[in-house]
Amino acid sequence: MDLFKEIEEYAAEYNIPIINKISSNRLIDVVKKNKPKSILEIGTAIGYSALLMAHYMPEDGKIITIEQDAARIDIAYNYIARAGKSEQIQLLDGDAGTILSQLEETFDMVFIDAAKAQYLDYLCKIIDKLSSGAVVIADNVLFRGMVMSEDPPLRRYKTIVKRLKEYLQFVNTDPRFSTTIHYEGDGVAISYYQGANKK
Ligand SMILES: C[S@@+](CC[C@H](N)C(=O)[O-])C[C@H]1O[C@@H](n2cnc3c(N)ncnc32)[C@H](O)[C@@H]1O
Repeated sequence: MDLFKEIEEYAAEYNIPIINKISSNRLIDVVKKNKPKSILEIGTAIGYSALLMAHYMPEDGKIITIEQDAARIDIAYNYIARAGKSEQIQLLDGDAGTILSQLEETFDMVFIDAAKAQYLDYLCKIIDKLSSGAVVIADNVLFRGMVMSEDPPLRRYKTIVKRLKEYLQFVNTDPRFSTTIHYEGDGVAISYYQGANKK
């Protein structure tokens, strides 16, 4: 069986959140168009989106992906090894909020897909690590329709919705970014970094 299909089935069976079809098609399009040589992914889960990006990016490109859930990390390692991508994908184990500040690499593409309330914090921590023209993709930015809804969100989602609005406000207004929001599915924001000197 195709490994991607196997991971999809595993994720469905064990309730592991992986990227949906609409967002993954968008992600693949961006990778094909931009041909990033270095990708940072925040939120690996079991390695599905990392493997997708690895499949479509230049062969000599590298991915760093961050995950804090030990059980998911083990599964991701296994799938990455089975796909023969252990050289290409480096999995960092721990809290992204801490790890991001310690990274020294520069990235052509960043895929943000971990804690929804932390998206802006993640972005602020990696702005100085973006190459000129880098693309930042943030998944689930509409959060089940709650971000654009006129109705108040359910209490337990209040902070997430507020913080996702702050993320969108930032990438839509900061002159260093040019952003398109795609409203299909759960919403994807694609932001091109135009360099700090444009400010
Ligand atoms: C939506 S899933 C990622 C799905 C994956 N990108 C895919 O599409 O295959 C989000 C993941 O982020 C992880 N996560 C959440 N907060 C995190 C943090 N602060 N640091 C590292 N990982 C985190 C969760 O454990 C979860 O596995």
